[in-house]
Amino acid sequence: MKTKIQFYCTECGNETPKWQGKCSACGAWNTIVERPTEPKKKSGAISMRSTRIAINRPKPLEEVETTTELRFETGMCELDRVLGGGAVKGSLVLVGGAPGIGKSTLMLQICDNLCRFATVLYVSGEESERQIKLRAERLHIRNQGLYLLSETNLENILDAVHEQKPDILIVDSIQTLYNGELTTAPGSVGQVKDCTMALMQVAKGEGITVFVIGHVNKEGSIAGPKVLEHMVDCVLYFEGDQNLNYRILRAAKNRFGATNEIGVFEMEDIGLSEVPNPSEMLLDGRPKNTPGTCVTCVMEGVRPVLAEVQALIAPTSFNVPRRTSNGFDFNRVNLLLAVLEKRGGLMVSTCDAYINVIGGLFLDEPAADLAMVIALASSFRDKPVPGDLAAVGEVGLTGELRSVSALGQRLSEVRRLGFTKCLVPTRNTGKLIEPEGLQLIHVHNIREALAVLQ
Ligand code: TYD
Ligand code: MG
Repeated sequence: MKTKIQFYCTECGNETPKWQGKCSACGAWNTIVERPTEPKKKSGAISMRSTRIAINRPKPLEEVETTTELRFETGMCELDRVLGGGAVKGSLVLVGGAPGIGKSTLMLQICDNLCRFATVLYVSGEESERQIKLRAERLHIRNQGLYLLSETNLENILDAVHEQKPDILIVDSIQTLYNGELTTAPGSVGQVKDCTMALMQVAKGEGITVFVIGHVNKEGSIAGPKVLEHMVDCVLYFEGDQNLNYRILRAAKNRFGATNEIGVFEMEDIGLSEVPNPSEMLLDGRPKNTPGTCVTCVMEGVRPVLAEVQALIAPTSFNVPRRTSNGFDFNRVNLLLAVLEKRGGLMVSTCDAYINVIGGLFLDEPAADLAMVIALASSFRDKPVPGDLAAVGEVGLTGELRSVSALGQRLSEVRRLGFTKCLVPTRNTGKLIEPEGLQLIHVHNIREALAVLQ
């Protein structure tokens, strides 16, 4: 007898009567999804899919019409920048982030501006219409063109979209949606994939711009494995420390723009406010005359951002020294500690080292190496780094300093924030114009850099 519910592997197509974590045919993990039992339905995702298949025919490349994508601004410059200059009509944007980080707040806030020129449908599976209204009142949103719907059934949502024909659809969150044709629970891999696919068809088929909120779970993936990233046009992650007020919006994927931009926001009593000057915010409250801290400048996209690196070095009381790193690659910290010992002559191998980058930033750029080495050395020697000194440079394994990109831009930002001295790699300074008021200290290697600070 044939089993009613069928599961299949999205990688190799292998069919199985029950769900399993690993495909027994190809060995891939988390690829088994449910196949709907009734392929023919009047409305909903499945029927839309079959219509699309019927009307789409292969076209020669030269016959494909090329219209430049229509963009519109969301009214939040930081979000627009991350999207690559505004949202694209008919695209699907996934906004991911940990619960409570402010995704719903961000989406509701952009509604305020979007409603001025478009009809917006805000579908929430998490809050009632009343709750959304209360939040909207708190955020001072009183526009006419905003429609709310508290619903979790995909088919009902699609019906509402067909009836309402909004220009922009916001879905909060994808984990609460379910397709009644599947028997699995909302939030399961199959459900989340199926609902996203249906929303994607709404976006492409009807030119509606869709924003979908997705919660990132503890492992850092949306709905289990990062199942949605490949399906959608744009993936934005909203990050930040929930205990701190600022939040960083990052693009992980963007079919219509670059992915190296960040947007910075601050969570206030009346919602999120934009932070056009992140360096100022990140350096706010920096301790003066304290050992173990150094400021560097990293490029976040095309924007230079100043960041404070903190290090604490103390003699270890364990057999193996303890090392922790927050905001900086752990292996890179170990590497820099080894370089510091071997090439800088500081005996740090018998010390515990604790690293922290202020403001929830993650410094994955080698240009931050020199500041890290200086912060470590400063803590080891218990000697503060001058408050008006910043450091930029990549450290090589022989302790040499290597050049970094966009040094001119970085130095202008360093100067703008009131620093008067900056350590830079000698190799970098060939054609560089020294910004007025900023003294450049050229160093070949970390020994020279450490000598400057003695
Ligand atoms: P929310 O947008 O509900 O988070 P998410 O949708 O990502 O789960 O934001 C929840 C947090 O934001 C909550 O802890 C309270 C805080 N918040 C403010 O501080 N100010 C505000 O004006 C709002 C609306 C929320
Ligand atoms: Mg929410």
